[in-house]
Amino acid sequence: MPFTQDHELDLLFPTDQIPANVRKQLPQELHSSSSERLSMKIRPLASSDHARGHLDVLAVLTVVSDPGADAWRAQFEALRATPRTYYSIVIVDKASDRIVAVGTVFVERKFLRGLGAVGHIEDIAVDKSQQGKKLGLRIINALTGISENSGCYKTILNCSESNIPFYEKCGYQKKESEMAKYAPTDRERSPRL
Ligand SMILES: CC(C)(COP(=O)(O)OP(=O)(O)OC[C@H]1O[C@@H](n2cnc3c(N)ncnc32)[C@H](O)[C@@H]1OP(=O)(O)O)[C@@H](O)C(=O)NCCC(=O)NCCS
Repeated sequence: MPFTQDHELDLLFPTDQIPANVRKQLPQELHSSSSERLSMKIRPLASSDHARGHLDVLAVLTVVSDPGADAWRAQFEALRATPRTYYSIVIVDKASDRIVAVGTVFVERKFLRGLGAVGHIEDIAVDKSQQGKKLGLRIINALTGISENSGCYKTILNCSESNIPFYEKCGYQKKESEMAKYAPTDRERSPRL
């Protein structure tokens, strides 16, 4: 599939909200350990990215069930309908026009901290074949930049113990603990007769 330029795409938010320094780092970068020339593009999620393997990359992170292109597109529109809140980005391999890395930051507006805001990073994934090439680092740098440029006084995320060293390399520090309570599944919800 030929590479699709940004102006041909329907994007979640304007490309220039991704910090210029991160955008410039990607194209034609020489990966030192493999001498392989990468030609990658970082950009906002586009309405047609279901067909570029967006969910395939997320499957690196967890079990993904594909809702189908129409439902995926409806979710894209729901995110876009809440402006200045959801920033999902992707890295695209120009040779194949396929997505190889993804991530999201969403902006929570607070009554605390002088009506401050917090950036929450979610759903970071790099395709298995492309891991170890600094794409994850670029995604985190871009999302952190978006968060800070949106006025967030901090950017936070949850991760497994095994990924702590990766986030430390991205400039993050371990703080406090995560708690979770999963809603009951439909079977557990229905009355036991
Ligand atoms: C974790 C993940 C996002 C990292 O992305 P990546 O592109 O492979 O990592 P990068 O090449 O950008 O790594 C940046 C630095 O972190 C280091 N690093 C990456 N993952 C690491 C890990 N699990 N443990 C220790 N160091 C790690 C790299 O060695 C590199 O260090 P260097 O700068 O000294 O060379 C990617 O491996 C991934 O998608 N994993 C599966 C899904 C997942 O766990 N997502 C995170 C959910 S919280």
